[in-house]
Amino acid sequence: LGVDDPEHRVQRRMMIPSFTLPRATALRPYIQRIVDERLDAMIAGGPPADLVPAFALPVPSMVICALLGVPYEDHDFFEGQSRRLLRGPTAADSMDARARMEAYFDELIDRKQRQDAPGDGVLDELVHQRLAEGELDREGLIALAIILLVAGHETTANMISLGTFTLLRHPERLAELRADPDLVPAAVEELLRMLSIADGLLRVAAEDIEVAGETIRAGDGVIFSTSVINRDEAVYADPDTLDLHRPARHHVAFGFGIHQCLGQNLARAEMEIALRTLFGRLPGLRLAVPAEEIPFKPGDTIQGMLELPVTW
Ligand code: HEM
Repeated sequence: LGVDDPEHRVQRRMMIPSFTLPRATALRPYIQRIVDERLDAMIAGGPPADLVPAFALPVPSMVICALLGVPYEDHDFFEGQSRRLLRGPTAADSMDARARMEAYFDELIDRKQRQDAPGDGVLDELVHQRLAEGELDREGLIALAIILLVAGHETTANMISLGTFTLLRHPERLAELRADPDLVPAAVEELLRMLSIADGLLRVAAEDIEVAGETIRAGDGVIFSTSVINRDEAVYADPDTLDLHRPARHHVAFGFGIHQCLGQNLARAEMEIALRTLFGRLPGLRLAVPAEEIPFKPGDTIQGMLELPVTW
């Protein structure tokens, strides 16, 4: 993110093998185990429970840690810094969070370099092969690690919490989903479309572009609102309605073009397993407080929920 070709192409090619559909499919049993364990713990401690810290956040956090080779024990640190990075009250605060993440990964890379037998995480491979062979420098590796860790948990965590909230607010759609769990993949696509949590993609026009009689000049900044594009009436009939049967898969919730989300196979697997298991195991799941009392994130790079009190 934030780099152009040829640098982007080199980095993207390096990462693609770790994020293919077969890799995401192979991770499904592991994701299922984490989902089951988090639900066991939540059920044992409740009801009620706050679904964000009990389930929606730890599931993607644990998965991305395992995939990258980042110790999950450090999650309080990196989850906190990610939040500041994306939503620091000031630019200085976001930059401070970034500096702390850089120092964290610098140290983690040191530790990985000292290991005789490398672990099997994506970062282990990058350290022991790409960095060692000079294909990637340390600064580039740290930048990549930060993107993967932040993009890998904040986004999916908010889709799980907001997706759950949305389904609980649409009892008829939820009943449909419970009656036919095969609808879960379609429900995930429709939720991605409707919620479009990664809104406002930033670009700079590379050349003059004519759009609807207006000229965007080369060098102008452009903000693409995925939430608006995904509710285009010309494409989606009745776009504000949650419809589990519509073909929603061509939404742009994962972006478009060469920067399209690298983690989308993984994110889909996580959301499907999380929602199917959550609603399957807790047939009585409902909000524990009136919906109006639940705080949403303020305007933010990634939209989502700060807490989600539920009971069952
Ligand atoms: C539901 C969850 C997710 C959503 C909605 C989402 C959304 C997006 C969007 C919209 C972009 C494009 C940004 C742009 O063009 O400016 C993007 C890029 C990216 N995403 Fe995701 N993402 C999700 C999950 C993940 C996961 C689990 C990972 C795992 C590491 C990930 C890694 C990335 C990376 C590395 C990029 C940059 C790709 C590039 O520049 O070539 N994302 N994501």
